[in-house]
Amino acid sequence: MKKVIIVGASSGIGRQLALLYAQQGHKVGITGRRGNMLQEVQHQFPDLISIQRFDNTTEDISFHLNQLINRVGGMDLFILSSGTGNINLSLDWNLEKEMIDLNVVAWTEIVDFIFHFFQKQRKGHLTAITSIGSIRGEGRAPAYNATKAFQANYLEGLRKKSVYEMLNISVTDIQPGFVKSAMAKSYKRFWEAPLKKAAQQIFYAIERKKKKAYVTKRWWFIAQLLKILPDWIYYKI
Ligand SMILES: NC(=O)c1ccc[n+]([C@@H]2O[C@H](COP(=O)([O-])OP(=O)(O)OC[C@H]3O[C@@H](n4cnc5c(N)ncnc54)[C@H](OP(=O)(O)O)[C@@H]3O)[C@@H](O)[C@H]2O)c1
Repeated sequence: MKKVIIVGASSGIGRQLALLYAQQGHKVGITGRRGNMLQEVQHQFPDLISIQRFDNTTEDISFHLNQLINRVGGMDLFILSSGTGNINLSLDWNLEKEMIDLNVVAWTEIVDFIFHFFQKQRKGHLTAITSIGSIRGEGRAPAYNATKAFQANYLEGLRKKSVYEMLNISVTDIQPGFVKSAMAKSYKRFWEAPLKKAAQQIFYAIERKKKKAYVTKRWWFIAQLLKILPDWIYYKI
C-alpha cells in the first residue's frame, strides 16, 4: 500500500486521481480550499482518504502538509495538481498576480517542502501537473503559459539535482492538453479528454515513473509540432 498526498484534489484531475489511488487500495491525503468537496471525496473511501483544507497562497503550507502526512502515516508519492488559469486579454494585473501567486510562488514553496522531505527520507516520487501550454507563449493567457513553463523547467532542474546528487527521488512532469474540468476555459478547445480517461493515463505514467507524459497520449504530436512550428505560423493561430 502506497501513501499518496495530492494537493488540489477537491475537483478535476486531482480529485479523479485521488479516487483512482483509493480504488487501488492506497492511502491518500487530499487538499483544497473547498471543505465540502473534500468531504465528498473522503466519504467514498472513509478508511483510505484523509483531508486537509487550506489555501496554498495564504496559509502555512509546511504546517498543513506535515499535518496531512502524519495523518496518512507517511508519503511515498506526492502529486501537485492545484492550479489556476485565466484568459487575460486585457492583461488585468489582478488576474496575472492570482496565477503567479498560486502557480509559481505557492507552487515552488510546496515543491521545495516535498523535495526536502524526500531528501530526508532518502527516497520518494514527486509529480506535478503542468501543461502542454508550457511549451510556447500564448497571447490570450501569457501568465498561464509562463507559469507552466516555469513549473516544467523547475521540475527538470529538480530531476537533474536528484540524479547529480544520487538522491533516489523520481520527478514526473504531466503535461495535459485539454481535459474536461472547471479549469478548461479556452474557447478553442479540441481533443478534450474526459476526466476519467485523463486520470487513468496520468496514473499509468506515474506508476511507470515517466519523466514526462503528455495527456492524452495523442498530445505528444501537438507537443512536437509546437516545438518546431515557425513563429510566422504560430503567431497566426
Ligand atoms: N483542465 C485542463 O484542460 C488542464 C490542461 C492542462 C493543465 N491543467 C492543469 O491541471 C491541474 C489541475 O487542474 P484541473 O483541470 O483539475 O482544474 P480544477 O478542477 O479547477 O482543479 C484545481 C484544483 O486546485 C485547487 N486550488 C485552486 N486554487 C487553490 C488555492 N489557492 N489553494 C489551494 N488549492 C487550490 C482547487 O481546489 P479549491 O478550489 O477547493 O481550493 C482544485 O482542487 C492544474 O494545475 C492545471 O493548470 C489542466
